[in-house]
Amino acid sequence: MYYMKTLFFNIKELIQVRDQSIIKVAGASMKELPCIKNAFLRIDNERIDDFGPMSELKDFNADQVIDARGHSILPAWCDSHTHIVYAGHRETEFVDRINGLSYEEIASRGGGILNSAKKLQISSDQELFEQSSQRLEEVMKLGTGAVEIKSGYGLTVESEIKMLRVIKSLASSFPITIKATFLGAHAFPSGFKDNPDGYIKLICEEMIPEVAEQHLAEYIDVFCESGYFNVEQTEKILKTGKKFGLIPKIHVNQFNSIGGVQVGVANKALSVDHLEIMKQEDIDVLKETDVMPVALPSCSYFLSIPYTPARKMIDEGLALALATDFNPGSTPSGNMNFVVSTACIKMKMTPEEAINAATINGAYAMGISSSHGSITKGKFANLIMTKDIPSYHFIPYAFGSNLIEKVMIKGTFL
Ligand code: NIG
Ligand code: FE
Repeated sequence: MYYMKTLFFNIKELIQVRDQSIIKVAGASMKELPCIKNAFLRIDNERIDDFGPMSELKDFNADQVIDARGHSILPAWCDSHTHIVYAGHRETEFVDRINGLSYEEIASRGGGILNSAKKLQISSDQELFEQSSQRLEEVMKLGTGAVEIKSGYGLTVESEIKMLRVIKSLASSFPITIKATFLGAHAFPSGFKDNPDGYIKLICEEMIPEVAEQHLAEYIDVFCESGYFNVEQTEKILKTGKKFGLIPKIHVNQFNSIGGVQVGVANKALSVDHLEIMKQEDIDVLKETDVMPVALPSCSYFLSIPYTPARKMIDEGLALALATDFNPGSTPSGNMNFVVSTACIKMKMTPEEAINAATINGAYAMGISSSHGSITKGKFANLIMTKDIPSYHFIPYAFGSNLIEKVMIKGTFL
């Protein structure tokens, strides 16, 4: 049933209450998480209409009135980096890693991204849509209200376009906001192993123009890493993408610091993601820029690689967003609650910093922070209503527990 107007009252704590002018938070400001205790919240259709302390609630007029006594409300998570559209799984590689192979060794034997590409190339739009829908439904129930999804398991013109077409159908079939990123430069297909220039040419001369022509993506990504795309190739792809109106959001510094952050900054990337291996110069070049650094702690957890040095980065004044990286190889999980916990436990982020990173800063990293990522008048009513928890510190503390009572996306409960 659809209600035009909803009123929540007696909310234990209304978390992440912001003015419209705040589009991201950085450095010491990340420690602040504005909240209202004993609050009300009004929703008009899809959007937040009003909120404040209970003492300011004038009337109970609404189609749906919810006594939220004991429950807190925060904005739904904004997951700015995922690869949710994929075919099949890679659990055999997981076991190979337990038995001693590294992620890079598996990839060099034809596993990894190429393994997923083989599976995806033979899957139909319908199969991909169904598999991805299940994952999308799961993450929505886990409190995600907006998500970025990348291509990058196609690696041919046809299959990259197929992935982006599926992302577009998901966007029109699900209530959550979905942003599409073209990641043709995810790995070199086996046919181009000895002809990397040929693949760069295919990306720049065929894939990018086609993606732009069909309006299938807003963002362009490259896996800038030793053994994948070098700095020069990354630069060429980003520049071509920009000519076609695609904004860079890139994979950098996952295993090695090779200059990817600098390419991102030079090309005005919206975000630079992964950042597990950061030299001082990589941190310095991000200072005083609009580029959002994005950490993916569940990838570090799953691959047992270093965590992004979040503490140092924030202490030096940078902003930081948190995302899942949901994908079949390095992070088969789309659970933002786990990401927030892991950021606190392993990266020494405070609960305030982690919640900021997973909401307003995540929204910024998708270019949607004027409409998502905080409790702000006029923003979408994308909300997590928690179970009865003592405080929001409990969200990262009680890792692994499901603390979500209900999720609302654009004014409607799931
Ligand atoms: O972000 N690092 C590159 N891409 C993905 C993993 C891709 C895969 O293993 O399928 C990531 O970790
Ligand atoms: Fe990724």
